[in-house]
Amino acid sequence: MSFKSEIAKRRTFGIISHPDAGKTTLTEKLLLFGGAIQEAGAVKSNKIKKGATSDFMEIERQRGISVATSVLAFYYKDKKINILDTPGHKDFAEDTFRTLTAVDSVIVVIDVAKGVEEQTEKLVEVCRMRQIPMIVFINKLDREGKDAFDLMDEVEQKLGLTVTPLSFPIGMGYDFQGIYNIYEKNIQLFQGGTKKKVSDSIAFEDVNDPGLEELIGENAAVALRENLELVEGVYPPFEREAYLQGQLQPVFFGSALNNFGVRELLDCFVEIAPPPRPKQAEEREVKPGETEMSGFVFKIHANMDPKHRDRLAFIKIVSGTFERNKPYQHVRLGKNLKFSSPNAFFAEKKEIVDTSYPGDIVGLHDTGNFKIGDTLTEGEKLNYKGIPSFSPEHFRYINNADPMKAKQLNKGIDQLMDEGVAQLFTLEMNGRKVIGTVGALQYEVIQYRLEHEYGAKCTYEPFPVHKACWVQPTDAESDEYKDFLRVRQKYLARDKRNQLVFLADSAFSLQMVQQKYPGVKLHFTSEFE
Ligand code: G4P
Repeated sequence: MSFKSEIAKRRTFGIISHPDAGKTTLTEKLLLFGGAIQEAGAVKSNKIKKGATSDFMEIERQRGISVATSVLAFYYKDKKINILDTPGHKDFAEDTFRTLTAVDSVIVVIDVAKGVEEQTEKLVEVCRMRQIPMIVFINKLDREGKDAFDLMDEVEQKLGLTVTPLSFPIGMGYDFQGIYNIYEKNIQLFQGGTKKKVSDSIAFEDVNDPGLEELIGENAAVALRENLELVEGVYPPFEREAYLQGQLQPVFFGSALNNFGVRELLDCFVEIAPPPRPKQAEEREVKPGETEMSGFVFKIHANMDPKHRDRLAFIKIVSGTFERNKPYQHVRLGKNLKFSSPNAFFAEKKEIVDTSYPGDIVGLHDTGNFKIGDTLTEGEKLNYKGIPSFSPEHFRYINNADPMKAKQLNKGIDQLMDEGVAQLFTLEMNGRKVIGTVGALQYEVIQYRLEHEYGAKCTYEPFPVHKACWVQPTDAESDEYKDFLRVRQKYLARDKRNQLVFLADSAFSLQMVQQKYPGVKLHFTSEFE
């Protein structure tokens, strides 16, 4: 098969949702359709169980599972589908943000009863900003939930999307009978007393056909016709180009648990979802069809075995073919590296692969060369954009609790930060280290892993910070900037990339600085123009 057709058949995407909306269940059903797994229950949920905050065995178990489910690949209708795992737990939101830099599209799962929830809002906002094509799947239609139109209103308002339904439910909860597929113009019914079986699709080009009454009863037929009329009047027609531009989001209804509406979603997905998209590097835009290989690290996973400190760096191939044993340039380090056992992922297995194509994810064994955001090329100096750090929510000093193990502690902190577990800030004034995280859970993870993987002990001390802001002076030589550096010295730190960061201790002091030093720009992410 030619290089071009290998690219054209890849679909790399992520499923995002608030925890419990049904992401794991949907993933599993998609894998079943792809024949990648044989039975339900095979995909382990990687979510942190409620109340597991201080249960380290649980955290370790999760880490094991999350290696296995980082990438789930399968074939369906000649397409190679790569599902990238996105943790739903809010303490791991940064992980998910980073994974979203490696997807070409997403499916957003929403619980029909709960509607749009907090985590969905945050994740969709990131996708919207990056114009990632999105399909919405409204799940759990077998339960009582919100009215379909109200829910679509909510999706539009809270998520800032423009939706158009491609399927529509017939009834809901107790009265749920099935789904009218607007895209394919057919009906699928829930069958049997327990409504657990699903009928084959029944073609229905024209819903005014009196056969509809026979099939679903008079009331439901009248309601469906009215609803479809309303859909046609209110929502824009589906246009693939608008979807690909991130301007229009098709909506499907179904029940992942009952495998209802999932095939429709998948069939439509393989038809409309984009193949690997071009990616913007700092230097230029790179197209998947270019012959020279380039790719970037979006995730690093430490191995489970604490004795072998090797890690798996996940690389998304952007252009060219990635080949085993071929030297590639690590752009940041300026050195060539060869990989003798690159891993490809298939369902829940990983295996050594000779050649990978744009859209694929390759897992590379690493002994400490990689950081999140690193780029590999065939020699060109490319740096991929779009992997910023965000201001953490929590900040604490980290102290060494075992003076004999200072080296181990520093090494451990360094490597955990490269993995993206948290962010390290080193204070300008006294060199003290401050760890910033998205959730409190990470402090426990760091402490536990430092001890078990590096033999180092740490303690924390509160450090009150409202927000970390990356500093960009309009003129680095100006008196204004020098004054800012002098007066605010106590609150200045360096991040891992040696960028200057202002740690504002309150909203008030942030505002004061912004007013007093208009020539000093403060950014809430590490990446700015
Ligand atoms: P997540 O990955 O988004 O966190 O959600 P997950 O798939 O784990 O689903 C959360 C819960 O919702 C699970 O129940 C799952 O069985 C249920 N669920 C998923 N899809 C549907 C659906 O279409 N209808 C209904 N009624 N329930 C659905 P649980 O009791 O938390 O877990 P489990 O014990 O069933 O595994």
